Amino acid sequence: MNVLLLGGGGREHAMAWKMSESSLLRDLHIAPGNGGMQKLGIMADVEAMDFAAVERYVRRHKIDLIVVGSEAPLVAGIADYFDASEKTQVAVVGPRKKGAMLEGSKEFAKAFMKRHNIPTASFASFGQDQLAEAVAALDSFKTPYVIKADGLAGGKGVIITESKKEAKDALKSMLEGEAFKDAGKRVVIEEFLQGQEVSMFVITDGKSYHMLPSAKDYKRIGEGDTGLNTGGMGAISPVPYLSEEFKQKALNQIIIPTIKGLAKDEIPYHGFVFFGLMKVGSDPYVIEYNCRMGDPESEVVLPRIKSDLLHLFENLCSGLLSEYDLEIDERAAATVVMASGGYPGKYETNFEIKGTEADPKWDGMIFHAGTKISRRKLYSNGGRVLAITGRGGTVEDALKRSYEQAAKIQFQDAYYRKDIGADVLDLA
Ligand code: AMP
Ligand code: GLY
Repeated sequence: MNVLLLGGGGREHAMAWKMSESSLLRDLHIAPGNGGMQKLGIMADVEAMDFAAVERYVRRHKIDLIVVGSEAPLVAGIADYFDASEKTQVAVVGPRKKGAMLEGSKEFAKAFMKRHNIPTASFASFGQDQLAEAVAALDSFKTPYVIKADGLAGGKGVIITESKKEAKDALKSMLEGEAFKDAGKRVVIEEFLQGQEVSMFVITDGKSYHMLPSAKDYKRIGEGDTGLNTGGMGAISPVPYLSEEFKQKALNQIIIPTIKGLAKDEIPYHGFVFFGLMKVGSDPYVIEYNCRMGDPESEVVLPRIKSDLLHLFENLCSGLLSEYDLEIDERAAATVVMASGGYPGKYETNFEIKGTEADPKWDGMIFHAGTKISRRKLYSNGGRVLAITGRGGTVEDALKRSYEQAAKIQFQDAYYRKDIGADVLDLA
């Protein structure tokens, strides 16, 4: 099978690494890829949002399968484009536009959950000409106020504040299109949920599904979960505080109703669903849906899948998902993200990276996110630079392996959190 993987972050490196182990793989093409993926495939200079260019590439290289890493091409309709194209027979891992709306519009996701009785924070939504109504509605919510831009905002479209003034300002700047442009022209105000966050994942063809290992992501830049939100500074899997009882509740109250809801609403879906959940007391609530895998969650979830990923994708696309037997590796995994100093604010790149040659006996993988190779040397090329994944019998062992390796890697102003997983180990 010839595969085109779209993306160039740690998540896509983890996917490329996993697919490269597959007996079904002929050529792996990656657009744009990064410095760490060069060993695994052919780097393609194609812009994922330029569907016609992707189509030309697909035809030229006889691609059988497109794997879409991030949400933007899905929300823009890449799967619809190729489903409609009679000239190519290519299959796409990732939902069509309608299904991707679960991530592409918070209001759509909220209405979907309401319609299908899926537990989520109570909410109200408003459009551009409703600023006064939105401000008035703040009174019906307890603090802190949670205000969300409706559309895609790269994980930055959420304001949580105790201050009514800040809440009003956020509503105003979103609805006036200053913050988040079109993504903020509709807003959702929602109830604040107090609890512990956890990410659960399924792969589904809209009828059957497989649960993937769950994970916890560390979103804040600073230790002790302080400072600005980032794309994610580390992750662990499994999540020690997730009991079997909680997983069953999540399955029965959220995951199954979501898949049934998609079918009921006649929304076809072939791909991953990422459930961002809050555990409130012992009950699960949906904070958000994503129509793709997480990053850095993929860097701990995919190493815990024993099965051949391409075989899984083949079954997904040919209607045989229910017959597939997904095998999970019992080892735990942890990843620590090494970032450029200053991220998620301003940062510099182009620093040489040293120390990425791991001991072959080390049980882990160094996934690249923002790296590039120039004259056979490796350089930083983004905010999040590397994700160092360790494996082990327990999350604690896995973390120890990640940190051992991270300590050996150097580049100027490298930053990583030293407390990934510490909170859950304290709880255990
Ligand atoms: P989202 O983009 O919807 O995932 O929100 C980003 C982050 O904001 C989440 O990961 C949570 O930490 C937080 N958050 C979002 N919605 C809520 C809520 N209703 N209650 C508490 N925290 C929330
Ligand atoms: N790590 C959070 C995300 O991928 O959305």
